[in-house]
Amino acid sequence: MADKRKALFICLGNICRSPIAEAVFLKAIKDAGVNDQWEVDSAAIGGWHVGKKPDHRALSTMEKHNLPYDNRARQIKKADFENYDYIFGMDKENMSDLERLAPKGSKAKQLMLGDFDTETPGKIIRDPYYDQGADGFEQCYVQCVRCIAGFLGKIQSGQI
Ligand code: 4NP
Repeated sequence: MADKRKALFICLGNICRSPIAEAVFLKAIKDAGVNDQWEVDSAAIGGWHVGKKPDHRALSTMEKHNLPYDNRARQIKKADFENYDYIFGMDKENMSDLERLAPKGSKAKQLMLGDFDTETPGKIIRDPYYDQGADGFEQCYVQCVRCIAGFLGKIQSGQI
């Protein structure tokens, strides 16, 4: 069997947006029957929440949408840029952080997830961490569903 493709979802803390994106991606590849063709993980730019479960609002959003999740936060490391094929950031700050951290000539394509949005391509997935409630988490989920469908559609049609 061909080598697995590898996707890594990044955000600032790895407790809000990237776990939701990871869970949505895992469900999408399972539903499409291609989960054995992928290796998937998520990680943080910063190290503040290493080892923690996602924020309770992210977990509630995942539960609400029947997305199982059992991963813990970790920080991105240099080897990720060589190991993964695709590293997805959530906003412009994530993308400039990734560019700064990537060793020269490393393999991973650095992509902003919002660029694959089928409705609003180029829209960032904003950080809901400092919001009062869970609306921003639901918005993140909705965007992730569209973006991941868009990305997998492009993979399937050979555009990527
Ligand atoms: P995330 O949200 O990047 O979507 O996981 C954040 C979580 C924590 C912090 C910032 C953003 N923080 O500064 O602790």
